[in-house]
Amino acid sequence: MWENSEGHGCAAGRGAGGTAGGTVSSRGPRADRRIADARPKGTSTLASAAGVASRDPAVTDTRVLYLIVCAAGPACDAVRLVTAARDRGWDVCVIATPAAVAGDFIDIPALEAASGRPVRSGWRRAGEQKRNPPADAVIVAPMTMNTANKWAAGIADTYALGVVAEAVGLGIPVVALPFWSTALDTHPATQRSLEVLRGTGIRVLYGDSEWRPHAPGTGDEQLLMYPWHLAMNAAEAGTNKSERNTNVFRRG
Ligand SMILES: Cc1cc2nc3c(=O)[nH]c(=O)nc-3n(C[C@H](O)[C@H](O)[C@H](O)COP(=O)(O)O)c2cc1C
Repeated sequence: MWENSEGHGCAAGRGAGGTAGGTVSSRGPRADRRIADARPKGTSTLASAAGVASRDPAVTDTRVLYLIVCAAGPACDAVRLVTAARDRGWDVCVIATPAAVAGDFIDIPALEAASGRPVRSGWRRAGEQKRNPPADAVIVAPMTMNTANKWAAGIADTYALGVVAEAVGLGIPVVALPFWSTALDTHPATQRSLEVLRGTGIRVLYGDSEWRPHAPGTGDEQLLMYPWHLAMNAAEAGTNKSERNTNVFRRG
C-alpha cells in the first residue's frame, strides 16, 4: 500500500495545477451535503472559520482525516497517504499551505481524484458555509520547519495553521511528521518548537525509529523512505485513544 508502483510518486503530474488556493471547487458533493453549517454554540470565530469544531454523529460514522501538506519535497507523494487512508475507511480532506500550492509542491488533480474532495488552501470567506466535515484526526505531513515554528508560536495566518492551531484544543488527535535538513534542524527555534508542540499533546514523529533530518541537499533521496505509514498509524492510534473523550464531546 505504501510502495509506489512507479518507483517515485513525484514523477506523475507534479505541478499540474488545480483548484486550490482558496477557491471552492464544484467537486465534492458529498462534502456539501455534510457540511450544512452547524457552528456549535460557544465555538470561537477561529474554530468556526477553520471548520473543525462541530461533530454531528447523526450525519455519518465515517472518520474524517485532515491531511495538512506543507511546501517540502514529500508533498508530491501525499497521494500515497490519501490512498492508504481511504483504503482504511477514512474520508480525507487535503489542506495545503499556500506555499505548497504556489511552489507546485503538490499534484492537486491527483489529490482531488484520490480524496474525492477539493484541495483547500485559503480561508473561507466570512459568511461562507463550512467546506469540510469536522475532523476526527489531523496529520501534518510533510511538516516544514516554517510551519512547525509558526504553529508552536501560535501563528494562524494560513488556513492550514488555523486548523492545526485549534485542533488540539478541540481534543482532536494531531500527528506531525516533519521533513527538513540538518541545517534547518540546528536552528535553535526548531527544537524549541518541537518541544512546544509535543507539550500540547501533538504526536511529533521525530526520533530514531520515526523520522530524522537528512543532510543538506539530499532531500530528494529521502522521498521514498518518508514514513507516511507511521503518520497514518499514529493518527489511528490517537483516534482510538481519544474515543472516550470524543464520545463525551459528542454527547455534549
Ligand atoms: C525546492 C524547495 C524545497 C524545500 N524543502 C524544504 C524542506 O524539505 N523542509 C522545509 O522545512 N522547508 C523546505 N523548503 C522551504 C519551504 O518551502 C518554505 O519555508 C516555505 O515558506 C514553507 O511554507 P509552509 O510551511 O507554509 O508550507 C523548501 C523550499 C523549496 C523551494
